[in-house]
Amino acid sequence: MESRYHQVYARWKADPQGFWGDAARELSWFKSPERIFDPDRGIYGRWFPDAECNTCYNCVDRHVEQGRPGQNAIIYDSPITGTAEKYTYSDLKDAVSALAKVLIEKGVEKGDRVIVYMPMIPQAVFAMLACARIGAVHSVVFGGFAARELATRIDDCAPKAVLSASCGIEPGRVVAYKPLLDEAIELSRHKPDFTLIYQRPQAEANLIEGRDHDWSTQVATAAGAEVPCTPIKATDPLYILYTSGTTGQPKGVVRDNGGHMVALKWSMKAIYDIDPGEVYWAASDVGWVVGHSYIVYAPLLHGCATILFEGKPVGTPDAGVFWRVISEHKVASLFTAPTAFRAIKKEDPDGALIEKYDLTGFRTLFLAGERADPDTVQWAEDKLQVPVIDHWWQTETGWAIAANPLGLGMLPVKHGSPTVPMPGYDIQVLGTDGHPVEAGQMGSIAVRLPLPPSCLPTLWGNDERFKGSYLSEFPGYYATADAGYMDEDDYLYIMARTDDIINVAGHRLSTGAMEEVLASHPDVAECAVIGAADSLKGQIPTGFVVLKAGVDRAHADIEKELIGLVRQKIGPVAAFKTAITVGRLPKTRSGKILRGTMRKIADGEEFKMPATIDDPVVLDEIATALKQRGFGG
Ligand code: COA
Ligand code: AMP
Repeated sequence: MESRYHQVYARWKADPQGFWGDAARELSWFKSPERIFDPDRGIYGRWFPDAECNTCYNCVDRHVEQGRPGQNAIIYDSPITGTAEKYTYSDLKDAVSALAKVLIEKGVEKGDRVIVYMPMIPQAVFAMLACARIGAVHSVVFGGFAARELATRIDDCAPKAVLSASCGIEPGRVVAYKPLLDEAIELSRHKPDFTLIYQRPQAEANLIEGRDHDWSTQVATAAGAEVPCTPIKATDPLYILYTSGTTGQPKGVVRDNGGHMVALKWSMKAIYDIDPGEVYWAASDVGWVVGHSYIVYAPLLHGCATILFEGKPVGTPDAGVFWRVISEHKVASLFTAPTAFRAIKKEDPDGALIEKYDLTGFRTLFLAGERADPDTVQWAEDKLQVPVIDHWWQTETGWAIAANPLGLGMLPVKHGSPTVPMPGYDIQVLGTDGHPVEAGQMGSIAVRLPLPPSCLPTLWGNDERFKGSYLSEFPGYYATADAGYMDEDDYLYIMARTDDIINVAGHRLSTGAMEEVLASHPDVAECAVIGAADSLKGQIPTGFVVLKAGVDRAHADIEKELIGLVRQKIGPVAAFKTAITVGRLPKTRSGKILRGTMRKIADGEEFKMPATIDDPVVLDEIATALKQRGFGG
């Protein structure tokens, strides 16, 4: 089939409001949008400014009312606990309504914030949808973050409640959440009114009287409650999702209700080529944007069954678990990060475990979250014999900026490229002078304003940071902070970040935040953290520290403390395992640390001696230190 992509993209470009107005008709509104876009509202304009809707209604009730009450909505498959459960759309409505009732009775109102700090269990999805149902704004915090990170988020969004579980389960260990939550509440200035704790059998939590409530008991008393979906403005926030910025203070990305629904619903057919009723699987975590958009909201908006997988691509129990889940639940499409495939490939290089399962209904693999290296893409294509589609997006956008839109007819795949801009995104590659560069030339990738529906209207409570972080570098554009190029066919190539964000196992992390932690150690005078290439995780953080004069403790002891400190302050997800003590850091004559050059040395890449370097000998010292730790190619 000839792709309709160019035609559809041109139609959007000629009439963006007509395009999104049509897409909006696929959803149910309490008050349908008459005005599609208002350029004078918000920071760069707002989508569907006069409409009223409810995201939970569209994800749940609409399907119960319109022919899918008995269809599976959530398939929970948890190899790590050996359990599995299925929830129909009717079950989902009951579970969400009961939880919504509990929240209302405890005083949560429209606009209030609720933090959700939970593992990959159905209750996490119920929590998100219960908030959406009553117009409360959820903020899900990934379970791999430490108490201090949770505290930062509590202080930033000032939640009325925290919904949590007693524990998460990682291979070989049970992660007790409650002590982390208690510590976070202790650390934060803002105190939530109450918490609801879902007790899991692997570790029961102690509840503090008056503040903590047992989830299951509360929900049982609310069983059967009818809680209508609250009409809310399309422009009201649905959620806040914190993501790494360049400092220790994460950015609270705000998602609205109307634009988010419209873009996500459109994407399910046009990009993923999925029909209502099919089984869709995003193997991510509800704590990340991929989890928000493609475990929870998009598949449910589209009337699909979504897989909620609590496990890992390898080790739970083996590298065949993805194929087991696909065949057992008849998954049509899988979306995950390339790192998951690198992990599988390492354990089962010949794909022998694939042969054990019937994958006939499986149509496509989608990859995102980090650069999809051509080797991994090729391996997946060879072994699975289905299209492997790289697509590029960010927490800030909530859906793909560039993709190969299968539902419009697949475009030829070029390895290393997430293909072409999606409707809504006018992408330009800009030079340092702010002007577009020629095809094939590297530059900063920017999106001409306005951003399409679902993209962030601002950062929570911080319009100035939003403008400063994204809109000021190139006036009239949103700066993605990714660098790369576009070829003659308008295929994009995403090559690097322009800031100090690194990507570790598909997780977005700030080296600046890690440097803040290292610098807080009493023996450290200065430090630098870089992302060194890693064959499994893509990148791994590597820290260099210069000790204060007079410190004569063993370097190995200090390095161990630094590793522990990052784990304690940021969390295990930082995967910070290497700290190296050096005599000096390489700097320019004006004092700027040459992190880029250090990264090249760590990766064994050629590098040009920076003309402005203060003392070239320092680079030799860094190279020697890295060699001793096995870096440097
Ligand atoms: N709660 C608590 N701890 C968590 C956690 C969670 N939800 N998720 C991860 N961690 C911990 C891990 O246990 C690990 O701890 P350790 O240092 O004690 O071993 C640490 O954080 C680092 O985790 P991770 O980077 O995920 O490494 P891993 O070795 O556990 O697994 C992969 C590697 C590739 C298997 C894993 O990253 C993966 O499945 N990735 C899939 C892609 C993905 O989910 N991407 C998200 C965006 S699409
Ligand atoms: P996150 O906000 O966690 O989704 O991370 C977004 C960042 O991950 C992007 O800005 C990119 O740097 C990187 N990223 C995501 N998807 C891709 C991709 N397909 N190719 C290259 N980089 C990607």
